[in-house]
Amino acid sequence: MSDLVSFDVTNPLFKANPHDFYTGLRESGPAHLVHLPGYGDVWLVTGYAEARAALADPNLSKDPANVPASLQNAMVEAGERDGFQLMAHMLNSDPPDHTRLRKLVVRTFTARRVRELRPRIQEITDALLDEVVAKGSADLMDDLAFPLPITVICELLGVPAEDRDDFRRWTSILVSEDEALRPQLQDTFAQLNAYLTDLVRHKHVAPDDGLLSALVSVAEDGDSLDDDEVVWMAFLLLVAGHETTENLIGNGMLALLSNPEQLAALRADESLLPSAVEEMLRFEGPVETTTWRFTTGPVEIGAVTIPADQTVVVVLASANRDPSRFADPGRFDISREDNQHVAFGHGIHYCLGAPLARLEGQIAIASVLRRLPDVQLAVDEGDLAWRLGIVMRGLHHLPVRFTPG
Ligand code: HEM
Repeated sequence: MSDLVSFDVTNPLFKANPHDFYTGLRESGPAHLVHLPGYGDVWLVTGYAEARAALADPNLSKDPANVPASLQNAMVEAGERDGFQLMAHMLNSDPPDHTRLRKLVVRTFTARRVRELRPRIQEITDALLDEVVAKGSADLMDDLAFPLPITVICELLGVPAEDRDDFRRWTSILVSEDEALRPQLQDTFAQLNAYLTDLVRHKHVAPDDGLLSALVSVAEDGDSLDDDEVVWMAFLLLVAGHETTENLIGNGMLALLSNPEQLAALRADESLLPSAVEEMLRFEGPVETTTWRFTTGPVEIGAVTIPADQTVVVVLASANRDPSRFADPGRFDISREDNQHVAFGHGIHYCLGAPLARLEGQIAIASVLRRLPDVQLAVDEGDLAWRLGIVMRGLHHLPVRFTPG
């Protein structure tokens, strides 16, 4: 039994308000060894400057070859979903592999491709809201925040319309925290893998204008991606781009609904939308902690030296509320200026989907305010349940009511 402070991300009381815990740690130093039940001891980095420095430090590796043995065993025991963390995709690689993979995907996942999605994102959002406007009540998670990003990713990748229900079902099982679905994880992972492998093969013979086809045919300086690499990239885009965007919409709407004066300010001036979404990302970002990193040599974090062969977790939720960087950090202020949050990470693994996430977030929030004019929480904020687990910060449900339209 470890005598370290427990970082118990499976405790509903902890997840109801992790900010007080992080503030206490941050005030007592820049890096802390804590006990993560089920996984062992990990270092948490909590300050803003230290978080950015750690994320830019080449001695912090993402390569599964550098996972400390004790953690590796625990991850494999924890099941297939955690096994995904060991897959050879871009987020699990260091330079030069990372540089190579990122260069190839950046050529295909362009600003133009994201811009061109705008009308479809608006159409999908409108269709989802059409289903609820007459009802006078909705669960913004189930009715909008979950289906919107997954549908957008299907369209982005080029998943045929007739396969999308299967695709959505597999994804919801893979991202679910529901213990009852755990026995299905292995099979679901295998089904999605087989499906994507077939789809990638099909894109060779029948290319379309989706991202998978572009990844299949991308070439630069005589280099290209093989089919396994395309499948891993598709997995990564799906996992990285789905629950995150869902939580941006959920956490963002909750912040607005529980700060009525900010909601009123946004309704009065829609030009505040971009800065409102940045503040949602800072205040209650979808990614609470980064994925694990592993020290390949000693790493200096402020005055603390983390030795080699350790696991490091950067707490983005804490960095984004560091008072040495953000004035009055616990206040949700949609017109905050100089809002250089780290919600999308920092350094070479900085989120590749940030422009798409911002676009989806802005369209979803603006559309809810337009279509559900007097929308308000249907339960007390304290009764909302947060999903358990490390990395993500998001709600199970967000019940709202409004005058039926
Ligand atoms: C990486 C946040 C949406 C694709 C990351 C990282 C963060 C992040 C913090 C770095 C993780 C780490 O260093 O451990 C977010 C947030 C999102 C979002 C807050 C929504 C609000 C998306 C979307 C996509 C996407 C929509 C694509 C469809 C990626 C990819 C990486 C990544 C591919 C890995 C980049 C690399 O390894 O070089 N994201 N993300 N993300 N994200 Fe996002």
